[in-house]
Amino acid sequence: MRKTFYITTPIYYPSNKAHIGHSYCTVATDALARYKRMRGYDVIFLTGTDEHGQKIEQKALEKGVTPKNYVDEISLEFKKLWKLLNISNDYFIRTTDISHKKTVQKIFRNLYDKGEIYKGNYKGWYCTPCETFWKESQLNDAKCPDCQREVQWAQEEAYFFKLSDYSEKLLSLYEKNPKFIQPESRKNEMIQFIKSGLEDICVSRTSFKWGIPVDFDEKHIVYVWLDALTNYITALGYTSEDDSTFKKFWPADVHFVGKEIVRFHTIIWPAILMALDLPMPKQVYGHGWLLFGDGTKMSKSKGNVVDPTILCKRYGVDAIRYFLLREIPFGADGLFTNHALISRINSDLANDLGNLLSRATAMIEKYFSGELPTEQKADVLDENLIKLSREVCNSVENSMDEFQFSSALSDIWKLVAYLNRYIEETVPWNLAKDPSKQGRLARVLYNLCEAFRIISILLAPFLPETSQRIREHLSLKSSTLSWGDAKVWGLLPQNSKISKTEALFPRIDIEKEIEALNKLL
Ligand code: MSP
Repeated sequence: MRKTFYITTPIYYPSNKAHIGHSYCTVATDALARYKRMRGYDVIFLTGTDEHGQKIEQKALEKGVTPKNYVDEISLEFKKLWKLLNISNDYFIRTTDISHKKTVQKIFRNLYDKGEIYKGNYKGWYCTPCETFWKESQLNDAKCPDCQREVQWAQEEAYFFKLSDYSEKLLSLYEKNPKFIQPESRKNEMIQFIKSGLEDICVSRTSFKWGIPVDFDEKHIVYVWLDALTNYITALGYTSEDDSTFKKFWPADVHFVGKEIVRFHTIIWPAILMALDLPMPKQVYGHGWLLFGDGTKMSKSKGNVVDPTILCKRYGVDAIRYFLLREIPFGADGLFTNHALISRINSDLANDLGNLLSRATAMIEKYFSGELPTEQKADVLDENLIKLSREVCNSVENSMDEFQFSSALSDIWKLVAYLNRYIEETVPWNLAKDPSKQGRLARVLYNLCEAFRIISILLAPFLPETSQRIREHLSLKSSTLSWGDAKVWGLLPQNSKISKTEALFPRIDIEKEIEALNKLL
């Protein structure tokens, strides 16, 4: 049986349109899912939308539509964006799906029956206009931190999950599974948080209606994190009649999440799973944030065009995917600016990669009418190229094992850079002038194309469209790409038909483009 790999993104709130921050995590997850498929794994890649809660209820009210209509529209926008970005998710879960709702109700009842959930009172400072409870420490000058109005001491009947029982078990989980929380620095934060004392958490509310009712106490709505986190198992059919997918794929291999929700995924989620007697996910990886112009987390444009749909239409999907994966080491925060994006497109994609392919294919068309002769003559420079291509495959694999997409791409660009030097050193346009050097010329051009065949495989998880385009010019089949083929030199048939390419990525006039973008803001 094939090895399985189950990977997830957070399920996003459809409270506003999907932005480049959401795209960041989804594109990274997609690259890993594609890579694992190419390595022969049976993959499930899950994403979706987290549609319940008071905030969404309010947004819908403001817009004068029902919460369901509101989330239907935005959830669809997410789906459309993922299609545009070439996201290969196997399943898209919505927490409003009937199957999810039913399973959450079963889980809630099960935890209640086991004594893991109990009924109590939620106490705190209540802001009536905002319908929100605040802790003393959250108040701003004894007023609501959101609207600055008076708050009253109040209590509301609520169900609680016994999180406080799990401190020791969670610490021992981290100890026994040192890779459970990654990167390492996030693990230390979680250990400190647990050591400062875990409180039971509120898992139901009566102050809003938009959510999943507790089926044995209908005035209660399941409070968001229990509804949201469980998506990772409800999507696989946990507790459903046919639970074969759940049995096959759970536990997840990795949950990719932003660093701000690592706490929920490494404390609340494992505790819920322990309470349900289910196995733990193998890893939670907290990636960093894309920051904008003034160093804040994404919310509004902050002087940069950050609408992923506009960006994809202007520069192409792969340019955006490339920037997101290459610019910021996964795990760290990084700045998003239009200037940095365009610079990357020009230097890495248009110059280093695109130009090289155009030059190589144009020469084959010019000197050999688009078909490489069988008779070829090797030389020592070629050995270095073959050796490097092998090394690059290995280092890309190592980087992918650590989810270091940026290093994987920079490894691939080492090969691209070498090829640019190879062309300068072998000077094929001079070889072409000498009839006795036709065999050598054929070899040089063959090697360039063969290296591009390998690059097309290595790039496929990151830039699927570009990979296909490269392969079309080399007359290669594209249906099933196998990673192993990148490790063998010489698979490109010697008499392959090679066709000249248009620029893969047109160069952008950066000054003019920034001016044009400013007009869009
Ligand atoms: N619905 C919850 C998650 C529940 S998971 C069981 C939620 N949703 S969210 O819409 O706020 O999305 C949060 C996720 O979107 C982050 O964890 C991160 O993966 C991604 N990002 C949102 N803004 C981002 C940036 N500015 N930069 C990078 N990623 C960002 O929290």
